[in-house]
Amino acid sequence: MSIWECCELLNEVVDESDPDLDEPQIEHLLQTAKAIRKDYPNEDWLHLTGLIHDLGKVILLPSFGELPQWAVVGDTFPVGCAFDQANVHHKYFKENPDYYNPAYSTIFGVYSEGCGLENVMMSWGHDDYMYLVAKENNCTLPSAALFIIRYHSFYALHKAGAYKYLMNEEDVENLNWLHVFNKYDLTFTARARNGLMLRR
Ligand SMILES: [Fe+2]
Ligand SMILES: [Fe+2]
Repeated sequence: MSIWECCELLNEVVDESDPDLDEPQIEHLLQTAKAIRKDYPNEDWLHLTGLIHDLGKVILLPSFGELPQWAVVGDTFPVGCAFDQANVHHKYFKENPDYYNPAYSTIFGVYSEGCGLENVMMSWGHDDYMYLVAKENNCTLPSAALFIIRYHSFYALHKAGAYKYLMNEEDVENLNWLHVFNKYDLTFTARARNGLMLRR
């Protein structure tokens, strides 16, 4: 399947966490890529990242496993260490057995300080799926692009600055690009609503 065929396929999925439900997914991909191209004309890798960052949402479709919405969209977060308060709906983590497991409930959990996000297991979603597709196919995009693809729903990190103790030096650099990218990922409507509501 070509990237464009995948973009067209994505139009068939509905992301229930998206405040702009009436907007086709393909519009979101194109608008993101075009807006980045306008402001960062020389960063061609970032335009492409904008175009493909949400293609992982195809796992909602029957031909890709038909995963439920909760396993595909919405915020992502590290597993194997304490759930930070900055995660949306933090109180519901009390329903998660990991919350009471002493191995996973300390600040570092199974990890060590500065171990690098690459070594951290994230909750499953369209981010991690697309990251794995890119990585396993020896995608030649720079590491900042793979970082953006993998962590663009990791709002606790890029909005609230949580979990920074897991990051290494490369992550710190890549996070700067994720901050750039995120401005374009949120649509105008979503941003307008953000002013009124908490997020989303
Ligand atoms: Fe996304
Ligand atoms: Fe997006």
